[in-house]
Amino acid sequence: MLVYYRNCLWIERIKLTFTLSIYDIYFRIRNSVHFSRTWLLLMTTNNQPSILFVCLGNICRSPLAAAILRHHLAEKGMTTKIRVDSAGTGNWHVGSAADPRSISVAKTNDITLDGRARQVTQEDFHDFDYIFAMDRQNFKDLQTLQERYGGKANIKLFREFDTATESALDVADPYYGGTTGFQDLFEILDRTCWMIIDHLTEEVTT
Ligand code: 4NP
Repeated sequence: MLVYYRNCLWIERIKLTFTLSIYDIYFRIRNSVHFSRTWLLLMTTNNQPSILFVCLGNICRSPLAAAILRHHLAEKGMTTKIRVDSAGTGNWHVGSAADPRSISVAKTNDITLDGRARQVTQEDFHDFDYIFAMDRQNFKDLQTLQERYGGKANIKLFREFDTATESALDVADPYYGGTTGFQDLFEILDRTCWMIIDHLTEEVTT
């Protein structure tokens, strides 16, 4: 009787060990599938170039540049190919809508300009592939921030891509000027955004 009872105990133990092993194998496979999926997602996301436009206040130049670029990407059916955002080096206007003059010049050109101003963050230097500075002062400030924060972001001067001019390196700050400054601003941003698209199209399609 005792022998029979011992044998039963052993059988139960073996059954339990077997069941636990099956669960263990199941969870290991499940975790590895989950890991592969996450990895695949990250790889896909990493193949999508991302651009951050930066000016001082994030209410005039950079949000308009981002809206123009998004508009042209949509026209080319490339909305999902390139991620676009904007930010400011300063924090005075955080949470504010874009300057009404930028919104107005965008609207005249059938472009929607919405969203709220935000300041550049540490994560931006790790998250974005390219950061385009609107002027040389923004460029210097961004370089100083990157020395502190690190990150892969390639910081460039926006007008490096503007082949219509060799001498002007800055997108002039229109904040204290009149409405005509915003029309000029639109033209500079618009033509340069097309040049950036040409540059990046190669990157996305190769
Ligand atoms: P943004 O223009 O840098 O193109 O957005 C400015 C907006 C606000 C100020 C300066 C520039 N500000 O001094 O408040």
